[in-house]
Amino acid sequence: MITPSDPALRGLARLAERYHRWIIRRSGDVRAKPVNRDLRLRVAKVRREAEDVVSLRLTNGSPLPAWRPGAHLDLHLSSGLRRQYSLCGDPADRFSYRIAVRRIGAGSAEVHSLAEGDEVIVRGPRNAFPYAPANRSLFIAGGIGITPILPMVRAATGNWRLIYCGRSRESLPFLDEIARLDPARVRIRTDDVDGVPDVTDLLGGFDGSVYLCGPAPMLDGIRRTHQGPLHFERFAPPPVVDGRPFEVELSRSGDVLPVPADASALSVIQARLPGVSYSCRQGFCGTCRVRVLGGEVEHRGGATFGHTEDSMLICVSRGCGRIRLDL
Ligand SMILES: Cc1cc2nc3c(=O)[nH]c(=O)nc-3n(C[C@H](O)[C@H](O)[C@H](O)COP(=O)(O)OP(=O)(O)OC[C@H]3O[C@@H](n4cnc5c(N)ncnc54)[C@H](O)[C@@H]3O)c2cc1C
Ligand code: FES
Repeated sequence: MITPSDPALRGLARLAERYHRWIIRRSGDVRAKPVNRDLRLRVAKVRREAEDVVSLRLTNGSPLPAWRPGAHLDLHLSSGLRRQYSLCGDPADRFSYRIAVRRIGAGSAEVHSLAEGDEVIVRGPRNAFPYAPANRSLFIAGGIGITPILPMVRAATGNWRLIYCGRSRESLPFLDEIARLDPARVRIRTDDVDGVPDVTDLLGGFDGSVYLCGPAPMLDGIRRTHQGPLHFERFAPPPVVDGRPFEVELSRSGDVLPVPADASALSVIQARLPGVSYSCRQGFCGTCRVRVLGGEVEHRGGATFGHTEDSMLICVSRGCGRIRLDL
């Protein structure tokens, strides 16, 4: 969510926010608000779902906060890292949550090291990707992007189809569960057999609601091409759009770091301070909030946590000229 200084863009951002709230209301998800309390859960089951992907079933023996398709949890890992993982189980199961994690870097490797009986702290569920049933829906999932899509497909009504893409069948989690869906509505395509997916082929002229979660090139292609309503979630940070270069001064060392127009302050600071906190890198979780000691900030993101005068979300917000941060 953008909160730019230009009044016209501010109007657009307000419209986008209203549309987002409308979608949440239409999805009937009155409980889609974030649950800002920590839950201590136990890993009840670990299952290998595909190459480099495990699923974890989390429980504490009591009824857990309700969720709707598209919701995710924040995992607070014992190393201090925080990462988001989409709920991919059954929303009707009030006693356990299921997540599935592809091993990529330090956070996901730590999740892969969890064993049955281990404890994890989670926060949520929060829903930034709500599903509103429509007459005609096309679900497109790329690899681990199936996690938010799977519960949507199970809840889908009307005329829906699923296209599930990946490198190879071995890399695709939950093929056993997908095999139980109506085969006439499901298409599985893998790069090793069908080649790299072509956006026009994926959409096939469809102009109804598309729900999409997959790698950045697929997402960017479909955003450019699709003519109808598009709902998507990113697992990785979006590119910086309309950025201007600025400088960040780290107050504790006095270091001044230039932030190029196409980079985030977080990515630049990370290179100097690898331990700096972050999680979603999209401006909605609040983990990267830092106190601003001087300079002018152009706030972006922060739909859930709001802005304060003297702090900024360094994953998305930018500075004008030089800003001094409490780091
Ligand atoms: C709302 C939301 C829901 C998410 N749900 C899931 C989920 O259900 N399952 C899951 O495995 N991950 C999910 N993620 C991604 C997850 O939170 C972490 O970003 C991911 O596990 C990488 O963290 P890391 O510490 O292992 O690697 P890092 O060192 O933090 O990241 C390494 C690099 O991997 C990139 N990256 C992140 N995710 C992917 C990906 N899937 N494919 C390729 N590159 C990626 C990052 O941009 C970064 O450049 C979700 C992210 C968000 C924001
Ligand atoms: S990392 Fe989530 S708001 Fe910045």
